[in-house]
Amino acid sequence: MRYYTSSLAGVTAEHLAGFFQGWPAPPSPQRHLEILHGSSEVVLAREENGTVAGFITALTDGLLAAYIPLLEVRPGQRGQGVGSELVRRMLARLAGCYMIDLVCDRDLLPFYARLGLRPYSAAIIRDHAALRALSGRG
Ligand SMILES: CC(C)(COP(=O)(O)OP(=O)(O)OC[C@H]1O[C@@H](n2cnc3c(N)ncnc32)[C@H](O)[C@@H]1OP(=O)(O)O)[C@@H](O)C(=O)NCCC(=O)NCCS
Repeated sequence: MRYYTSSLAGVTAEHLAGFFQGWPAPPSPQRHLEILHGSSEVVLAREENGTVAGFITALTDGLLAAYIPLLEVRPGQRGQGVGSELVRRMLARLAGCYMIDLVCDRDLLPFYARLGLRPYSAAIIRDHAALRALSGRG
């Protein structure tokens, strides 16, 4: 039975193996665990055996602004509403913030629009050397 939680209790790197699909240098599961602990808010979808089926993170000042940097559902678990539920639960946790922002590929805009996030523009930096360092390939 799958369940949703904002607790990282009992989550190990082994529960996180296989995420960051398609990234040029995926952060290792241990780094992934550190990313979760370093986030202001997390929501996980977990299987009964502890495996994480999907996760979402947010960084926030707790008052005005929040940013959602990461959302991913394991490939085998997609199309079952897990991603939508993770976003809904994260938005509920961030309720009260004036700004809730995320950056995504254009083809994902309809997915987020169904959940109340409207298209806007963004400006970004991507430091690939920093990413490689998190993958252990730095
Ligand atoms: C995006 C993602 C989190 C969606 O998770 P999911 O559990 O499959 O989402 P849901 O089952 O709630 O899907 C809801 C709807 O979004 C649509 N959708 C899902 N992924 C999509 C994509 N990449 N592009 C366009 N539409 C998408 C689904 O078709 C579904 O529509 P339907 O209900 O009309 O069939 C998942 O595909 C994923 O992990 N992708 C790789 C990582 C990623 O792109 N993360 C977002 C970073 S901004």
